[in-house]
Amino acid sequence: MVKVDVKGCEPFVEQAKFESYVNKALEAFDTLDAENGAGNDFLGWKHLPSEISESIINDIESIRNLWNRKGVDLVIAIGIGGSYLGAKCVIEALSHNFARQLKHKDAPEVVFAGNNLSEEYLAELMDLAVERNVACIVISKSGTTTEPAVAFRIFKQYIESRYGKKEAAERIVAITDASRGALKTLSNQEGYKSFIVPDNVGGRFSVLTPVGLLPIAVAGFDIRELVDGAKKAERALAAREKSNPAIQYAAMRNLLHTELGKSVEILVNYSPKLTYVSEWWKQLYGESEGKDSKGIFPASVNNTADLHSMGQFIQEGSRIMFETVLHVDSARRSVVIESDEQNLDQLNYLSGKHVEHCNHMAEIGTRLAHIDGGVPQITISIDTLDAKRLGSLLYFFEFACGISAYTLGVNPFNQPGVEAYKKNMFALLEKPGYEEATEAIKARL
Ligand code: PA5
Repeated sequence: MVKVDVKGCEPFVEQAKFESYVNKALEAFDTLDAENGAGNDFLGWKHLPSEISESIINDIESIRNLWNRKGVDLVIAIGIGGSYLGAKCVIEALSHNFARQLKHKDAPEVVFAGNNLSEEYLAELMDLAVERNVACIVISKSGTTTEPAVAFRIFKQYIESRYGKKEAAERIVAITDASRGALKTLSNQEGYKSFIVPDNVGGRFSVLTPVGLLPIAVAGFDIRELVDGAKKAERALAAREKSNPAIQYAAMRNLLHTELGKSVEILVNYSPKLTYVSEWWKQLYGESEGKDSKGIFPASVNNTADLHSMGQFIQEGSRIMFETVLHVDSARRSVVIESDEQNLDQLNYLSGKHVEHCNHMAEIGTRLAHIDGGVPQITISIDTLDAKRLGSLLYFFEFACGISAYTLGVNPFNQPGVEAYKKNMFALLEKPGYEEATEAIKARL
């Protein structure tokens, strides 16, 4: 299971103060448990791991098998925000670092679109698509988000013109809301296989629905293991105890923010495979807590690379941050540093040592240096980076996020601020219905 260690905050925090925040977090836990807090119509994610049906998993696996039989080798997963980052983070975390370059491939490559409006990105993705055997997953809970809608229009037309409408219907899967939205209407009309995002699960909490599970399964990973790990976390984190890792994490980050004025949390990893776990986490915490002029700004670094760039700031710059280190106990591959007769690089003192040992020493050394530099440290550990542990970690972050946001006093499950840019963009694009806003915004330019 996921472990949380707050010892790296002890030099900065009085134990009695921490106890008082643990009690606040326990109250927030009760609110989440009783389902009587703000946004309580969006708590479907809490029991997703234990309640996901065998028939959904089977349906997902049958799409994967169908596409494998067709020889599909490129799946374009279209979506943004919560309809993108969960699948992206799991696929990146579980993939071989050089999967794209390796000759042998035992599953289709999953690439993402609809998470930006870059024309070059779409044109270059089309360059790839024409060389490959293509299928597409379009994911939008609302079915009306502009970025995925634009990308889907382009790839729908491409797939239909290349394979014909009948075959296209076997190569396009839609994941959307049960009843509302353009994407639902379209998939009914075109006969696409579709999956439902439950009404009571918000985008950023949807990785354990088909939103995350279909692209992950298609990419060749074991979604049963992922869900199993999440189920384990669901059971363990249900305990109303001070030592509950979600309580410890939520309590300490709120204390550091409220009492010590730390306004930035940096999620730190020591494996490139975790880069997108940080991106997913940033959305989860940023969108859930950043409202009502409150919240901790979630940032991330990828070490040891970023120790040679951001390390200077974290060690000696403005003291606005604390760090949460994602620690992985053991690597799944082994590389040992050999002795060298000439020893010109003077590395023989490391002969016989695993590279991961050096990585761990860099991690411990950095943690201590940053404590000395005034940056409190929380550590979150998993045993190794596999599907099961990752499932536990993702569920842990979701559950802790609910507790943390309630401790902070905000509704974790809405995102009213996301609308402001959309209104301006629609006005600038002269969308019908936005005539007044168009006039007003043009006057500002
Ligand atoms: O967490 C959220 O709710 C958002 O990030 C959404 O996932 C994102 O805006 C995409 O929305 P939709 O799936 O409706 O296209």
